[in-house]
Amino acid sequence: MARSLQAPASQKTPQTRAIDRVVSFANGKGGVGKTTTAANVGGYVALAGSRVLMVDLDPQGDLARDLGYERQTGRELFHALIAGTAPLILRDVRENLDVIPGGQDLEDIQGLMVSRSSRSDAGDFGDMLYALLAPLADDYDLILIDTPPGERILVEGAFAISSAVVIPTKSDDASIDGVERIARRFLAVRDRNPSLQLAGIVLFGVGPRSLRLERSVRETLAEMLGTVAPVFETRIRNLESASADARRKGLLFHELEGAVTDAQKSRLKALRAGEKPTDGFFSRNAGGLAEEFEQLTGEILSRLNEIESEDRA
Ligand SMILES: Nc1ncnc2c1ncn2[C@@H]1O[C@H](COP(=O)(O)OP(=O)(O)OP(=O)(O)O)[C@@H](O)[C@H]1O
Ligand SMILES: [Mg+2]
Repeated sequence: MARSLQAPASQKTPQTRAIDRVVSFANGKGGVGKTTTAANVGGYVALAGSRVLMVDLDPQGDLARDLGYERQTGRELFHALIAGTAPLILRDVRENLDVIPGGQDLEDIQGLMVSRSSRSDAGDFGDMLYALLAPLADDYDLILIDTPPGERILVEGAFAISSAVVIPTKSDDASIDGVERIARRFLAVRDRNPSLQLAGIVLFGVGPRSLRLERSVRETLAEMLGTVAPVFETRIRNLESASADARRKGLLFHELEGAVTDAQKSRLKALRAGEKPTDGFFSRNAGGLAEEFEQLTGEILSRLNEIESEDRA
């Protein structure tokens, strides 16, 4: 598998539908950190001053939870894809960060694509997505797509127009199986989009004291990937309280840092005033997750630069 994942430069043909600097976050397994990673990486890139568009292709619409905007039905995106019209864009969800929101109506795409013709496949959805995003590409430095764990047509459509894929995974065997499943989808799309590259694997939700497990998972993944893509050095630690707070409040981890500090001040103030302190936070700090995502963002951006320069060579 390692060798077959590498795209020799000679195979690159003009048929590629990849849009530069479009990155999909994917894994065939649910709950492994796809949305959290996409949202926080996007947040950091925007914080650093680059223009970011986030696209939620998941019928679950979870990106709304991590970025704190109102949940949507996905109907506008569904219509824009089907009718080839401009999508609804939520502007300035953060400074430099816009969002094309998803939602449950995206489930209809899968059924629609299957029923359109017996020859219908993810390729058709890739064309729709290309028509939707290509006109927007010049407005942004980076477009990040959050994909669902299932819905093959949606995921392969995202791959068909992406230049790179980031795969977050947990350490358990089922998640590693998910990496293998997504690698197969990746290979299936490579015929159509030979520019597609695997940016790397993110170890997500790693136990702080699971060093031996982490080492063993890194070895397994390195064996699976060969020289095709790295397992990023930065891993995201398992911190349930901080992540529950971030999602409940619609805050990215670097924002949670500030929010819990403010909450602590208010708690002390309330105590001094003899009132009962209530702030609704489970965590007392974001436990280093902000720094981890900052480092991971740096690694992902370097890798994207590397992929781009390989592409030009
Ligand atoms: N550092 C962390 N430690 C533990 N849990 C976390 C951490 N960060 C996020 N979580 C939680 O883990 C759960 C899964 O994360 P997330 O939704 O990002 O995964 P996903 O792969 O996008 O899931 P799905 O396949 O359902 O789309 C969420 O409840 C999220 O809040
Ligand atoms: Mg998700």
